[in-house]
Order: sequence, then C-alpha cells, then structure tokens
Amino acid sequence: MKVIVGVSGGIAAYKAAELVRALQQQALDVHVTMTEAAQQFVQPLTFAALTGHRVLTSLWQDADHPSPDASIEHIAEAQSCDALVIAPATADLLARMAHGLANDFLTTLYLATPAPVLVAPAMNVQMWEHPATQANIATLVARGVQMIPPDSGALACGMVGSGRLADVETIARAVVATLHRRQDMAQETVLITAGGTREPLDPVRYVGNRSSGKMGYALAEAARQRGARVRLVSAPTQLQPPAGCEITPVLTAEQMRAAVLEHLPQATLLIKAAAVADFRPRMAAEQKIKREGPITLEMEPTGDILAEAVQRRKPGTLVIGFAAETNNPLEHGRGKLARKGADAIIVNDVAHAGIGFESDRNAVTFLTESRAIDLPEMSKRELADRILDEVLALRRNKTVLSEAGAAPASHGSADRW
Ligand code: PMT
Repeated sequence: MKVIVGVSGGIAAYKAAELVRALQQQALDVHVTMTEAAQQFVQPLTFAALTGHRVLTSLWQDADHPSPDASIEHIAEAQSCDALVIAPATADLLARMAHGLANDFLTTLYLATPAPVLVAPAMNVQMWEHPATQANIATLVARGVQMIPPDSGALACGMVGSGRLADVETIARAVVATLHRRQDMAQETVLITAGGTREPLDPVRYVGNRSSGKMGYALAEAARQRGARVRLVSAPTQLQPPAGCEITPVLTAEQMRAAVLEHLPQATLLIKAAAVADFRPRMAAEQKIKREGPITLEMEPTGDILAEAVQRRKPGTLVIGFAAETNNPLEHGRGKLARKGADAIIVNDVAHAGIGFESDRNAVTFLTESRAIDLPEMSKRELADRILDEVLALRRNKTVLSEAGAAPASHGSADRW
C-alpha cells in the first residue's frame, strides 16, 4: 500500500524522516511531499534517499527532469495513494487546508485525494491554542480529517505546553490502523446517541449534565470513516457534526427515546454514548419561576432507552451502552450489563481526572458477559476506533456462535433510515 507523507515547515520536520522509517517497517511504500518552508529545515535529498522516490516539492515542471504529465502529477498521486499523513502540520498549513487553498503541491494533493487524511500538528503552544488554529482544526475534523493531537511537554521554542509533535510510533500506528480499517464497517448501519439531554424546569431553565458529546461524535466519525451508514441522535452540543452522518437533534430524554425507537429497525448496531437524564421534573412551569423563596422539585423517572432498545431490536442488532460511574466502576458496569441486557457496556470512570466528561481524552473498560477489556487513556477519536474494533470482534464471535447453532445473527445495510 502507498502512503504519502506530507512535511510542512516546522522544527519537527526532521522527525518526518523517522516516521518514513517507521512506516516502511510496516511494509508500506512511502512517498514524500514537502512544502517550500519544510525544505528550509530538511533537504529533499534526505527523503529521496530514504524512500527511493523523487520528493514532490512543486506543482511546476522540474527543469532537470521535464515530463509531459508534470502538470497533473498531483492528481495522479492523489488518486494512487492509500493514505496521506501530514507530519508535522504547521499552523499555516492547517489554515491553508481549512480554507481550501491549493497553492503548493501538498495542499493541492490534499484537496484532490479521496484517501483518508491524517494530520499531526506541531507548533508553539500559543499558536496551537489560538482560536484561529482551533477553528481550523475543528473545520478539518468536521470534514473527516483524522487529527493526531500534539503531545504536551518542553517545546523547541523554550515554552512548555501542548504543541509537540505526537510520538512517531503513535502516528505510524494511526496510519496503519486507518489503512486496515478502511471500509470494515461497510455492512453496518449504526445508530449513535451523544451529548447530554436537557429536562425543562421552566421556559429558561433545565436539568442537564456535563456531557459535551465528544465521545459520541468521535464514535460517529470513526464508524462513518470505516464505511458505515451513521445516524447520530444528538442532544445539544457545541460540536460540528461529523462529515457524512445523518443527524437527528433532540433535547429531552423522551425525544431521544422517540428518535432511537424510530431508527432502531434500520440499525444493525446501536451505541448509546449519550448521558441521558434519569429523572425529569414532573411539571415544567409555563412561565419563568420567580425567586420568591425555596422551591421543591418533584422529579419522575425517564424511560430507560437502552433497556427498551434491547427488548425491541431485531435479531442480529448489537446494542452497546455506556456506564458513567464515579465509584466501583466495574461493579456498577457489570450490574448495568446484566440489568439492561446489552451486548456490552463501556465503563467510563468519570471520577478520574482528565478523562470522561468534556475532555478530549478518555479511558474505558469494554465489558461483555465473558470479558473485561481495558482501553487505556488516549484521544477520544483514537478510542472510538478501538471501541469499534471490539464491537466488530463481538459481532464476529456472535456470528460464529450462531453458525454453531445458537441464536440467529443477521446484519447488513438497511435500505434507508
Ligand atoms: O460527552 P462527553 O463529554 O464526551 O463525555 C462522554 C460520556 C462520559 C458522557 C460517555 O463516555 C458516557 O459515559 N456516556 C454514558 C453516560 C450515562 O448516562 O451513563 P449512565 O450510567 O447514567 O447510563 C447507562 C446507559 O444507559 C448509557 O448508555 C445511557 O445512554 C443509557 N440510558 C441512561 C438513562 C436513560 N434514561 N436511558 C438510557 O438509555
């Protein structure tokens, strides 16, 4: 398989040589394209020697090696590669990509390729945290670019913080995983819930929770990129919907229940990452409640969507729940697995600092009747793929069991949502 490494002009450009080596060790045919600025840091000759291929540096004719099809070389490269990984990606390159500029070989290649694109940014911490950079990242992620977030630590500029190029092994692993995963969910129609529901108290107030929707959106993006048809039932979030997913916005637990039950018949897989209210105010006041002394709220339980979906699913539809726990997570997770009858429960220890609600990172245990698989702390996007790997392994096990005479398991793309 052919991978193109795009190198832009940052001090971390030298690490791209190690990345080339790491990818070659995975038996990948690696080609390199460099921006003009990258060539100030590393000579193209380095990459030419490592890869055995001419390094692509310009959209224009190479005077020493004129070729009749040079003007469309970026299209040929774009069509023939299986993945494009850009490392390091500078703030300038991210901005150009986000705005669709095509003013050098790399940006033109990016626009022209149908292959998966991975981006590993590296820059000064303030440049990384600048709202412009973060907005460009959000735009690219919404368009399906897979981000490999920078590490934290001492930076070349002398500052300490986020912005250091992710470990070369991490980048190489992400590339290999992406290549292996391409289209392995093409037979799945996936229903995913995300975000925190809101239960109105009066026209301006609600009972809510801390869910940002990041975990559910990461799962939706990962499943879509692996070829699944995805419907995302989303409670309010600040996030851009992932590219190519069908979105059903909802507000309350009851609206989420109605949306899940409406789309469940078409789904081959339901993943309930949303944080759903367990109780709602029995009555929502018609007018804003005035500050006239203490009030007592009477709450009633909401319907358990997960448990109901397990009862109503068609044969072969996998149902996966989450369990956000603050104490004895595995014990409570096992209780939920048994009570709700789901095929797996993803246990999320939300008392652990830096993961769970709102964070970009998470760590979970994938719990089934027979196994507890720890998925250690990583970005939610990376974790989403690891979770989907486990879901597909579960699907394979169940298929083997059903072929051996147990319950039937059929799945396949539905005609429509
Ligand atoms: O959104 P983020 O900021 O990225 O945070 C991610 C997360 C912490 C929200 C996510 O990883 C997570 O743990 N989601 C489940 C949160 C939750 O509501 O857990 P629970 O233990 O209360 O519910 C268990 C399961 O039942 C969940 O799958 C939930 O969707 C489902 N449920 C709960 C209540 C209800 N009325 N109906 C349900 O279907």
